[in-house]
Amino acid sequence: SEDITILSIETSCDETACSIVRNGSELLSNVVVSQIESHKRFGGVVPEVASRHHVETITRVIEQALAEASLRPDQLSAVAVTEGPGLIGALLVGINAAKAFSFSHDLPLIPVHHIAGHIYANQLEEELTFPLMALIVSGGHTELIYMKDHLNFEVIGETRDDAVGEAYDKVARVIGLPYPGGPHIDRLGKEGEDTFDFPRAYLGGSYDFSFSGLKSAVINSLHNNKQKGLEVDPKDVAASFQHSVVDVLTNKTMQAVEEYQVKHLIIAGGVAANSGLRARFDQLARMHGITLHIPALKFCTDNAAMIGAAAHHLYLKGHFSGLDLNGRNFIDI
Ligand code: KG4
Ligand code: ZN
Repeated sequence: SEDITILSIETSCDETACSIVRNGSELLSNVVVSQIESHKRFGGVVPEVASRHHVETITRVIEQALAEASLRPDQLSAVAVTEGPGLIGALLVGINAAKAFSFSHDLPLIPVHHIAGHIYANQLEEELTFPLMALIVSGGHTELIYMKDHLNFEVIGETRDDAVGEAYDKVARVIGLPYPGGPHIDRLGKEGEDTFDFPRAYLGGSYDFSFSGLKSAVINSLHNNKQKGLEVDPKDVAASFQHSVVDVLTNKTMQAVEEYQVKHLIIAGGVAANSGLRARFDQLARMHGITLHIPALKFCTDNAAMIGAAAHHLYLKGHFSGLDLNGRNFIDI
């Protein structure tokens, strides 16, 4: 059978990315331009700033992906793009670029759900084995997804308020750490202890998550200690926050693994870089006799290769869209 070679574009947040993937797993090129330096001074991603950077960078990123793969557009099978969820202005830049590319080179256009991409990142390293459970943890998402087969997604839990990475970044900010704060809390927490015993939100056995109460508990605790003139050690705040998050994420996920009787667990998204989370999942996977899959960090954070990996299966299913494709924020995966 013939090779399927897909050029994919991802601009849902603050990376402008283009990749070329062959047959769903063979990475021919992977270009990611991060805007993080531009957003740092605002303490978070500013949507308008993100859109403008995407407009400026998108063409260069596409050209570079083709050059690195030594391919011409007529050697491609299709063009794929993240249709959502994400920052709408940012998404529209990638979508418009993909439409123009599709139209001018007469290639089918494949819309891809961002979270499907995060899960399929794993396919760049090994075949997915079903049934599986996937925990997606990033600055914008916290989702627990059950998959029976390719492209068969069942969201069994999601955050009711802040995404877990967002909680890391907000707590980091209150203890004076730079953006993005997740890696700093991770590092600092290793030197402290869980002395605060912050709340763990289990939400009555639901697989949903909530992190805003934890964030408030951290802020209130810092405030109360300050009023009493007591010093708090940021290391212990970081360690206590970290323990609460890791407890909730791992306990809920392992409960789902048992209930749905899966033998494979994927963790992806930027927070999958967290050392405490990885260590606990490693240990739990061994105890439960399941296989843990965590893609390399460059495939965990936003990239276009993961969109190309997911698009391969959409291509096989003939899931294409017309040139009226729009950015969509509330779509079922
Ligand atoms: O997937 P990602 O790069 O972008 C989004 O789609 O959001 O995830 C970024 C998030 C940020 O909130 C960042 O603080 C968090 O991942 N993060 C971490 C760690 N490394 C990145 N959180 C906890 N521990 C880490 N080591
Ligand atoms: Zn993402």
